[in-house]
Amino acid sequence: MNQWDVVIVGAGAAGLFCAGVAGQCGLKVLVIDHSDKIAEKIRISGGGRCNFTNRLLDASAPQKHFISQNPHFCRSALSRYSPQDFIDLVQKHGIAFHEKHKGQLFCDHSAEDIIRMLLAECQAGGVEIRTGCSVKSVQAPTEDNTHYTLGTSDGPVQTTTLVVATGGLSIPKIGASDWGYRIASQFGLRLVERRPGLVPLTFDGVGWAPYAQLAGLALPVGIETGEKKGRMHFDEDLLFTHRGLSGPGVLQISSYWQEGTPIRLNLAPEVNLPERLQEAKLRSKKLLANELATLVPSRLAEAWVGQNPALQRPCPDVPDKALTQLAEALSRWSLTPTGSEGYKKAEVTLGGVDTRDVSSQTMESKQPGLYFIGEVIDVTGWLGGYNFQWAWASAHACAQAL
Ligand code: FDA
Repeated sequence: MNQWDVVIVGAGAAGLFCAGVAGQCGLKVLVIDHSDKIAEKIRISGGGRCNFTNRLLDASAPQKHFISQNPHFCRSALSRYSPQDFIDLVQKHGIAFHEKHKGQLFCDHSAEDIIRMLLAECQAGGVEIRTGCSVKSVQAPTEDNTHYTLGTSDGPVQTTTLVVATGGLSIPKIGASDWGYRIASQFGLRLVERRPGLVPLTFDGVGWAPYAQLAGLALPVGIETGEKKGRMHFDEDLLFTHRGLSGPGVLQISSYWQEGTPIRLNLAPEVNLPERLQEAKLRSKKLLANELATLVPSRLAEAWVGQNPALQRPCPDVPDKALTQLAEALSRWSLTPTGSEGYKKAEVTLGGVDTRDVSSQTMESKQPGLYFIGEVIDVTGWLGGYNFQWAWASAHACAQAL
């Protein structure tokens, strides 16, 4: 019988990092992954360059960058393992990186650098990694047997502690599964409903037809959803797609968007449109579409003007009312998505193992000896390196407690 101090299921960001730290503390650690290729999400993250953390993360106010039914849950782990701690590790391994906008740190060369670093840390801790191995059953310790017993495709395995690091449901084709949630349920832990986050939004085909021609167009926008206290606003880029909207602004807002409610867009956030359009009407004899194209991308100007004959005229001939409506439509465009692109395109899964059943200090669940780390827990970060920082910090808190 294979006997281990710690078995970690899931060789992704959280699982590999936890394994390295625990192994280097002297524990005998086995990592199991059902995929043949480990850490696939790290490999494809940040466009292949892995946005591995964010300098602006404020652990004292986690609700600013993290979504959870209990947004304070992640505070302890995030404050004990900070972005700077991870940056120190990256520097120790000689990995070159740079900052993009808003505190986002990316590898200069490749996300593979981060994977190599995690594997080197595992090797330093004597960690064994088994790929292509699935766990078919988990039996809790009994009076006669103080260990967890795992029935795996490579035979039975026994362990004192079991760490679930199987991540969320997004991108099933690279190994995502609901295994972590099923294990939580098996041991009577509560789950928060899951849904795709950081995901492109889609619109009904007929209503979207006038905008489908804009596919590929990217521009900076103000984007918001929700009302009053629940209102969320981002200033980020937007990308038109054939089926709807994507780009960083839309991905961010998608994590807050509730089905059946509208999102609102300001397509010219840096321009006072009512003023500039009135001014163009007095000054210019050109077609309105041409003047509008100096204020917003020309394809956008054409698409909007093309929908209303009253706007397809030289500036002086456009009625004031149509001009006001155009300014309002572009700066407060309200539209209701019919849905999202779902888990096949989502970067993360909102919801997961209920934080009420997990210790924020150690990540141990109410089932003694059973731990959850990373995305499988109901903690979801903003776009920009926050999700990896949660993976590192929760893994570190867990490893310290084992
Ligand atoms: P992760 O998904 O990394 O690992 C889970 C592991 O468990 C996988 O290896 C999987 O094969 C394994 N597994 C699943 N089910 C199993 C089972 N039944 N048995 C055994 N093994 C099983 N975040 C960020 O901060 N910066 C970024 O740049 C990006 N970019 C990005 C791009 C794309 C396209 C996606 C989809 C996601 C991102 N993210 C991101 C999010 C980030 O990748 C994610 O939050 C972390 O990888 C979560 O780490 P975990 O270790 O929890 O899960």
